[in-house]
Amino acid sequence: MEKQYFIIDFDSTFIQVEALEELAEILLKKAPQKEEILQQIKNITNLAMEGKMSFSDSLAQRIHLLKARRADLNLLVKRLKRKVSVSVNRNKNFFRKYAAQIYIVSGGFKEFILPIVQQFGLLEKNVFANSFTFDENDAIIGFDNTNILARKDGKVELIKSLQLDGDIFVIGDGYTDYQLKEAGLANKFYAFTENIEREIVLKKADHVTPSLDEFLYVNRLPMAISYPKNRIHVLLLENIHPYAIELFESEGYKIEKCSRSICEEELAKKIQDFSVLGIRSKTRITPKVLAHANRLMTIGAFCIGTDQIELSASRKKGVAVFNAPYSNTRSVVEMTLCEIIALLRNLFDKSTKLHQGVWDKTANGTVEVRGKKLGIIGYGNIGSQLSVLAEFLGMEVYYYDIMEKLALGNAKKCSTLQSLLKKVDVVSVHVDGSPANRNLISDKEFRQMKDGAIFLNASRGFVVDITALSNYLKNGKLKGAAIDVFPEEPAGIGDPFISELQNLPNVILTPHIGGSTEEAQRNIAEFVARKIIDYINTGGTSFSVNFPNLQLPELFRAHRLIHIHHNIPGMLAQINGVLARHKINIVGQFLKTNEDIGYVITDISREYPQAVIQDLKKIPNTIKFRILY
Ligand code: NAI
Repeated sequence: MEKQYFIIDFDSTFIQVEALEELAEILLKKAPQKEEILQQIKNITNLAMEGKMSFSDSLAQRIHLLKARRADLNLLVKRLKRKVSVSVNRNKNFFRKYAAQIYIVSGGFKEFILPIVQQFGLLEKNVFANSFTFDENDAIIGFDNTNILARKDGKVELIKSLQLDGDIFVIGDGYTDYQLKEAGLANKFYAFTENIEREIVLKKADHVTPSLDEFLYVNRLPMAISYPKNRIHVLLLENIHPYAIELFESEGYKIEKCSRSICEEELAKKIQDFSVLGIRSKTRITPKVLAHANRLMTIGAFCIGTDQIELSASRKKGVAVFNAPYSNTRSVVEMTLCEIIALLRNLFDKSTKLHQGVWDKTANGTVEVRGKKLGIIGYGNIGSQLSVLAEFLGMEVYYYDIMEKLALGNAKKCSTLQSLLKKVDVVSVHVDGSPANRNLISDKEFRQMKDGAIFLNASRGFVVDITALSNYLKNGKLKGAAIDVFPEEPAGIGDPFISELQNLPNVILTPHIGGSTEEAQRNIAEFVARKIIDYINTGGTSFSVNFPNLQLPELFRAHRLIHIHHNIPGMLAQINGVLARHKINIVGQFLKTNEDIGYVITDISREYPQAVIQDLKKIPNTIKFRILY
């Protein structure tokens, strides 16, 4: 194999910024015309980068605008040390190992470049850049214009003069970097876009490298992470909240988004390119979609329910599904509390009447919530939080749950549904959507309630028999009701809605909005996105709705092998057999299984032969395997 040489640009490539612009920031901190001068400097830099101004002119003009001194350079170096590009910092090992083959070639200045790159073990003799000239008072007055890099086509001339014998790869963000390829001096030009993207440079590149990881990956060079993040393609459907997009982008994933859901046929075609899929409640994930999802690692349901996803089929395909079970709990609770007060005070009817010009000022039949008895059916996330906040308002709380639940605050547990219904003034239903809960509250249950009771349901529509409810509202047994969920709900905004509950006094009807607030949407976006990122980065599956839940320690000085397989006896023994054969030291191992898959995480010490990976993948009944470091 030919020897490889790596020519790396400094400004906006090795470091995140343009050093002379940083110097200007330091010098002009308090200057009144700061913004104006900074803009001028930026414009000059860009003109030169895009090949529209001669490089030496741009240098001279910038130095003249700056009026810097030698001491300012120390401050600059200090500042630049904190601004090394993220993926450069991450891959220190590559620089140390390949130092003899790495050349820093820059139109910037050695005075600040050397102290930065030497920290990475790079050699002074391989750093080519301009140098400043100073007057007797240490003011910077210009630059050494005998330096080859101060001239037009300086980089080209310099590389020619080096006569490197081997394959030459150039990594940079500017036009002058591309010119090395154009002049036939480099085998490939990689446009580095971690910090800045210049259209004109992107067009010329052999390969766009959004981070150094991507460059190292395509050239099979040692990397600090197992897989470049830009190769993780994410498909986000149904208008997922921008905060999730922000989080995925900051990880470096490549994102494609769509405001609507897409049908099975279209999704089956599209899904093959993606590692991550984000949906809300409308996109159906069927076995047909999964059959094509060969790269898919995880699905994020950016909502509460997961009925739209075939969870077991996803699991068997090795695809972990995450949702946001708690993210809108608070929103439902706040709405419920608001409705309890509104119903006890008959606010909606009063307001409607007043809109119609009727001044119905009377205290009759309106009461405070303080001291009233609230009965919560289903003491889960929502029910228990409602319990706490209702007590703050002075309500006496009773609850009934089919599971053993810890009473919060002063809430009292009822051993039967009937005993709760008989006791309380307000009944609020917060059970889950299990099929057994169909018509949980029907004629019999309404009959058992106190006369004048208030009834609320913000759980699932099918839990309540609507005809029975409307009968007990019409005959005056119930004083009022607030219903947010219905056995049949319209599919979209503006679709018709018909219910027996319409036009009854003191009945609040809302279109399934209990959990719909801006905060909840953002919370959902954050919760699900972070779970997905954690799964990709560490293999952690806590809160997954279809995978065995494993919360994993952070990976430290080790590699992590993640093995997903069909749950049949002897799999762990086979994995460990492979590791033993290759004499690999296991640092930690975690295993969890469920009815059809096994999830094994093995942390191993850092050196391992490639053959181990092949052997682990070859174990029969392996569904998916990946390695993290
Ligand atoms: P959860 O699963 O944490 O709590 C449900 C509780 O109900 C559990 O403790 C369970 O043991 C209990 N339960 C189930 N069947 C029961 C029965 N027959 N009798 C007594 N207790 C029973 O669920 P979470 O997060 O509190 O949600 C509650 C309901 O609210 C769910 O149906 C959910 O779909 C719905 N929801 C509605 C929203 C809206 O916009 N209106 C938004 C978010 C959730």
